[in-house]
Amino acid sequence: MRETFTVLGLESSCDDTAASVVRGAPGAPGRILANIVWGQSALHAPFGGVVPEIAARAHAERLDHCIEAALDEADCGLADLDAIAVTAGPGLIGGVLAGVMTARGLAAATGLPLLPVNHLAGHALTPRLTDALALPYLVLLVSGGHCQFLAVEGTERFRRLGGTIDDAPGEAFDKCARLLGLGYPGGPEVEREAAAGDAGRFTFPRPLLDRPGCDMSFSGLKTALRRARDGCVAGRGGLSGTDRADLCAGFQAAVANVLAEKARRAMAEFAERHGAGRFAVAGGVAANRAIRAGLEAAASEAGWAFLAPPPALCTDNAAMIAWAGLERLAVGETGARSFTARPRWPLDDTAAPQLGSGRRGAKA
Ligand code: KG4
Ligand code: ZN
Repeated sequence: MRETFTVLGLESSCDDTAASVVRGAPGAPGRILANIVWGQSALHAPFGGVVPEIAARAHAERLDHCIEAALDEADCGLADLDAIAVTAGPGLIGGVLAGVMTARGLAAATGLPLLPVNHLAGHALTPRLTDALALPYLVLLVSGGHCQFLAVEGTERFRRLGGTIDDAPGEAFDKCARLLGLGYPGGPEVEREAAAGDAGRFTFPRPLLDRPGCDMSFSGLKTALRRARDGCVAGRGGLSGTDRADLCAGFQAAVANVLAEKARRAMAEFAERHGAGRFAVAGGVAANRAIRAGLEAAASEAGWAFLAPPPALCTDNAAMIAWAGLERLAVGETGARSFTARPRWPLDDTAAPQLGSGRRGAKA
C-alpha cells in the first residue's frame, strides 16, 4: 500500500496569510483537511495595490491564528503531521520571512521535517493535488505577480517556455481599474464592467504577437488605456458609463487574445518534445471567464485536455504549498534545517532571467 502523508503548509509571500493541512500521496488527488486563507485586500485597497510593509506586519500577526484554525478544522494535532512545508520564495521578502520564521519555530519545537517550497512550484503542481494530473503537462501561471508557461516535466523539474517581460496580467488589470476609478482588486471589477462593453470601440495593441515565442508584455496595454481614457475626457469632459465599459471590454479582450495565442504557441513547443497533452491554468486571473474561455478554446482546437482548478485553489493558498511538500516527502526527502528566504527564485534556472519586480513581488 502507498504511504500516506499529512503535511501542514504555510503561505505568506504576497497578500494572503494562509495555512492548510493536506493528506495524501502522489497518484491520487490530495485530501484538503483544512484550507485557511486570510486575505489582506481590505488593508491594501486604499493604496490600489499591495504595500509590502503592511503585508509583512499582517502576516506576522496572523500566521499563528491561521495555523491554529487550520489544525482545528483538520481535527489534527501537531503529532499527526509528517512535515511542515513553507513558502520560501519568490515573493515580498518581509512576508516570506514571516512564514519561514514561524515554520522554523514550529519545526524546532516539534522535530518535524521542514520543507522550503517555491511558491510557483505550488501553483504549478496544483493540478496534481486536485486531479492527480500525470506528468508531463503544460501549465500557465497567470496572476497578479506571475505570468509564465511551464512544462512540468517532474515534480521538481520545470522548463520555462516563456513569460511576461514586464507586468503580470493581474497587475495590468489592477492598474486598469485604478486608471478608471474602479476598486481593488481590479480584475473582477474590470470583468464586471466589460460584460456590458463593446470590445471593438477602442483599439488596443496585441504586444509581442508579431514576434515568435511565448514571451508576453502587458505594460503597453495600460498606456493604451490611459491614452484612450484621456481622449474621452478631453472630448467630453469626463468618462461616461459606456466609455468605461467599452474601455474595460477592449482591454480584457486584448489580454485574453494575447494569452490564447501564446498558449497555442506554448502547446506547439511542448508537443515537439512530449507530444500533445494536457494544459492547465492557475492563478487569480484564471478566474476571468473571457480569459478562461479563450484558453479552453485554444486547447480544444489543438486536441488537448484543459484543466482549471477551482478558483480557491487557483489563487494564493497554503494547500498547494502543503502538496508540493508532500510530493517531496513521497520521494524520500527529509527536509532542510538551513535555507534562505528568496525574493527571487526562478523555477527554471536555465531560462533567461526576466526583468522587473512589481508591486506584488518579483516576477521570477
Ligand atoms: O493568484 P492571486 O490571488 O494572487 C497573486 O497575484 O499571486 O491573483 C490576484 C490577481 C489580482 O491582480 C486580481 O486583479 C486578478 O488576480 N484577478 C482577476 C480576476 N480575479 C482576480 N483578473 C482578471 N479577471 C478576474 N475575474
Ligand atoms: Zn501566487
